[in-house]
Amino acid sequence: MMTFNCLTIFPEMFSAFTGTSLCEKAITKQLVEIGMVNIRDYTEDKHNRVDDYPFGGGAGMLFMPQPLFDSFDMLEKKYAGKRCLNVYMSPAGKTLTQEAARRFAGYDVLNILCGHYEGVDQRVLDHCIDEEVSIGDYVLTGGELPAMVLMDCVMRYVPGVLSNDESVSEESFSGNLLEYPQYTRPSSFRGLEVPEVLLSGHHKNIAAWQRQQALLKTLRERPELLQQAELSDSDRAFLEKSQNRT
Ligand code: ADE
Repeated sequence: MMTFNCLTIFPEMFSAFTGTSLCEKAITKQLVEIGMVNIRDYTEDKHNRVDDYPFGGGAGMLFMPQPLFDSFDMLEKKYAGKRCLNVYMSPAGKTLTQEAARRFAGYDVLNILCGHYEGVDQRVLDHCIDEEVSIGDYVLTGGELPAMVLMDCVMRYVPGVLSNDESVSEESFSGNLLEYPQYTRPSSFRGLEVPEVLLSGHHKNIAAWQRQQALLKTLRERPELLQQAELSDSDRAFLEKSQNRT
């Protein structure tokens, strides 16, 4: 069982995610547990505030330290003895990768702080947070969607969440190649034909075609990935030929 706790001021944003599809199944099967920590429940401010103006001026507000320190103290006590990681979703963090997601899946408990306003008092980052995680080089209004992206990506590694364990390994990014195109029935649709080789039943030819298509797709969309891909001599020869053609 893997536990995710989301520290947020908008817990209601998560209900569609936790109540649908694979995530709902994973929760029902008790493979995954998703807890909500409403940061506002922990404030000692008499007006229930969780944010304040930054010292030194500047635009926007910051999460103040007290509600967050108390939230993380509560989690530390609740999960004492478990392998816990505290992450902060922020565009200023390291960009999430498949490899990082696999590593996060090795923890028992992932506590995910969802940012808002202009950010968080630095003392929270220094004393409560292990890693700052971005989901890409763009800015969102809050860390809730990024937290759902992170949980979705990580829970695929929790045993039993995916019906077929192979789908974790045979996907885009494992091996640093993007996926080859796939087709289903009918073989002819509105005059659009499925590539002949896939209908041939010749497994070796099919595998070779799929490999070449994955190489081509990666060359066109994400050529930088080819640097880290494990390529055979015939892969390299094929890529060279393709590059000369375009
Ligand atoms: N919060 C706002 N934008 C974000 C991003 N790109 N990644 C993670 N958290 C964020």
